[in-house]
Amino acid sequence: MRYFLSGLTLLAASAVHAQQAADAVQPEAATQGAFQAISPEVATALDAKFAGVPVEAQNWMVAAANPWAVKAGADALANGGSAADALVAVQAMLGLVEPQSSGIGGGAFLVYYDAATATLTTLDGRETAPLAATPRLFQDGDGEPLGFYDAVVGGLSVGTPGTPALMEDAHVRWGKLPWADLLAPAIERAESGFDVSPRLAGLIEGDAERLGRFATTSEYFMPGGTPLAAGDLLQNQAYADTLRAMADGGARAFYTGDIAADIVATVQGAEGNPGVLSAVDLSIYRVKERPPVCATYRAHNVCGMGPPSSGALTVGQILGMLENYDLSAGPNDPEVRRLIGDASRLAFADRGRYMADSDFVPVPTDGLVAPAYLAERAKLLGGDAALAEVAPGSPEFDHALIWADDASIELPSTSHFVIVDATGNVASMTTTIENGFGSRLMVRGFLLNNELTDFSFRSQADGVPIANRVEPGKRPRSSMAPSIVMKDGAPVLAIGSPGGSRIIGYVAESIIAHLDWGMDVQQAVSVPHAVNRFGKYDVEEGTSAEALTEALTGMGFEVGARALTSGLHAISIGETLKGGADPRREGIALGQ
Ligand code: GLY
Repeated sequence: MRYFLSGLTLLAASAVHAQQAADAVQPEAATQGAFQAISPEVATALDAKFAGVPVEAQNWMVAAANPWAVKAGADALANGGSAADALVAVQAMLGLVEPQSSGIGGGAFLVYYDAATATLTTLDGRETAPLAATPRLFQDGDGEPLGFYDAVVGGLSVGTPGTPALMEDAHVRWGKLPWADLLAPAIERAESGFDVSPRLAGLIEGDAERLGRFATTSEYFMPGGTPLAAGDLLQNQAYADTLRAMADGGARAFYTGDIAADIVATVQGAEGNPGVLSAVDLSIYRVKERPPVCATYRAHNVCGMGPPSSGALTVGQILGMLENYDLSAGPNDPEVRRLIGDASRLAFADRGRYMADSDFVPVPTDGLVAPAYLAERAKLLGGDAALAEVAPGSPEFDHALIWADDASIELPSTSHFVIVDATGNVASMTTTIENGFGSRLMVRGFLLNNELTDFSFRSQADGVPIANRVEPGKRPRSSMAPSIVMKDGAPVLAIGSPGGSRIIGYVAESIIAHLDWGMDVQQAVSVPHAVNRFGKYDVEEGTSAEALTEALTGMGFEVGARALTSGLHAISIGETLKGGADPRREGIALGQ
């Protein structure tokens, strides 16, 4: 196998990243075991890694959650490909080596900067509710919400996947290399196999009972009933065959014909929890181009994906409120954390009330990030204690607003990657199958999403409809926040993260770390987390963030230490490219 990685400029972001980088550039790195020196999971001394330096390069860069995926993207870029070419290669590989987080059975949002036209485009490849879905999809006979995993596991939660269509759409718009060539590395890797990573092995073990409910899934992840272990060789001929069909027939080969028929049969035939996805749902799926949502912050424009994602709006609201305060005292200052925490709570209150798929409910998108509205909301932060009460505000809007507060549950999973190519195009893409291993249904070598559980299980509260209720053809509200930060009309930072609704806090915190605290991208993605969504302040277990507990508790916050498994990947764009990979996951940044 030929690699294009020799001669890359690689500076290690940390001891772990140094080892990964060294592994990654060995010319015969494609042998099994090439990537065994992968960072362990959450319980590592993150503060020690805080001292790391970013990977630096002159021409192009890719940062993603798995070294195989980074290599696939790097190969495309080294071959003269665009950021859109590289994203196809990265996504195809992620679906193989990080199958629990994203894949062609899921959905994604892409923020893309096209250097030739100096334009920012956002593409919505979100999963869509089947036409047969009703607002009561996740309710029992009495109208009560189902238990979360009762809804997740099986066919009921599966939305029409959007990722294959998004890959193709991006390639048609901005690709330069042949489509089939971009799928080839993942096909080859699927056939020859890859070492199961420690993270994947740990997640399989932790989810064995649910994975074991479906024969195809069980046989793949637990052959003969034994969960795969780290370092086991895993091959996936079915996935290779699916990608080959897509290489020959494009995304159409996924949405129609035999593959589509198998998806439908798997969803509708799921034992105990069948779903309603149909062949028509698959055949009518379309990627939607949406206007980017941008918020001003410290003379930058922070841009991302608008509804159905709440990501850019909520990140934008947090930053827009904080714009009115000085945060320069840094991440360990309780007052700074009070401001960030309560700005987040106020933004989440608006998110719960107003944000959903704007094709189905009127969303006051402009009003929610209007500087005057946010300056007014920011006045609520003027005290010195945690807000006793947090309620949605009244953003300017020309429609009556009658929505009740939302009741959806989101758990961490998902993956984020960033790419800058040699001509300055930038891709920031967050991609998901929702819960770890999605619906647990596997077909043709890939897992099907459970994205529909991102809808509110309740459809109304006291007779008032909830904006993010299930409706046929609607896209569930997301927290994914793929972002590109612009200054003077040019991109200066691409960033995003997995993490369920904590994505919003991770991304806002990292942007603050970079712009207010002067951290480089590696420091910014490594900063010990303190995130607040609905009131409880989560501080990252085993890090210096825990030292905030006493002061924040004294201010009136409820504080709890817990693992906070972000997966931030970021590239800053200046005289050089600098890449950072979250030490909490298994990714690297690579550039030339
Ligand atoms: N399922 C994760 C998200 O869309 O926010």
